[in-house]
Amino acid sequence: MIILDGKQTSNNIKDEIALVVQNRKSKGLKTPHLAAIIVGSDGASMTYVSSKVKSCQKVGFNSTLIDLPDDIAEEQLLDEIEILNKDNDIDGFIVQLPLPKQIDEQKVLMAVNPDKDVDGFHPVNVGKMTLDLPSFLPATPYGILELLERYNVETSGKNVVVIGRSHIVGRPMSILLSQKRKFGNATVTLAHSRTKNLSDITKEADIIVAALGIAEFLTGDMVKEGVTVIDVGITRVKDDTKKRGYRLAGDVEFESVSKKAAYITPVPGGVGPMTIAMLLKNTLQACENRD
Ligand code: GUN
Repeated sequence: MIILDGKQTSNNIKDEIALVVQNRKSKGLKTPHLAAIIVGSDGASMTYVSSKVKSCQKVGFNSTLIDLPDDIAEEQLLDEIEILNKDNDIDGFIVQLPLPKQIDEQKVLMAVNPDKDVDGFHPVNVGKMTLDLPSFLPATPYGILELLERYNVETSGKNVVVIGRSHIVGRPMSILLSQKRKFGNATVTLAHSRTKNLSDITKEADIIVAALGIAEFLTGDMVKEGVTVIDVGITRVKDDTKKRGYRLAGDVEFESVSKKAAYITPVPGGVGPMTIAMLLKNTLQACENRD
């Protein structure tokens, strides 16, 4: 069993990005600048966003964190987005999800200038991705493709089962892995909460991407020997033995699944760090597009 080490791989990618940034700076080219909007004070979201900002510093990007109150009106958030759209120094920005109830997520994502949409969530970028046109790829699926590529996990002709049809992970992952591309060309099944006999389907899978958000959902009895397992889940599970009161659990029961897997991502240290690295890659791309 080989661990797909997202932490190490993401550090390699960050080193590569840092070199490009250094080179840009020495040539007098613009320093990439990422902004992140966070609404409210959800603990997990704040952790993710501060990791994104810290990673910007690591690779030599400029970063701006815009922290807005939980009860902000939709109009005000849209105004903040418009400011970032117009700010010439900002190459790309993200609005951290989820958003509070009073805000229409679709409206917010559609307000982001597609050229600065480094999350790849705007319909223009989703459409381009679907049509195999150059676009910003959503960072989590992009990170999974990169991890598979760097560990040379063959996807062509393989049976892939993606569990979960979210707009951020499952749906785009299913599209990307089925495309005629390097580390694509897979036969993809997109399973979800209405799927019947899921175990029968997962047992036929060469590669499983678990992205449904239920802690330790995928168990050893649901997979075949030699499977590759990508665990996108990261749930805080109450654990009084830990000082912080919780532990982080993936969507995969690592203990049982890793006994059968050829390759598996850990949680933490698998997909999470890759997501951040690919967000940086998209931001660098956005900056280069504007050169
Ligand atoms: N919430 C969970 N994942 C993501 C992500 O990749 N981008 C944003 N903006 N919010 C998220």
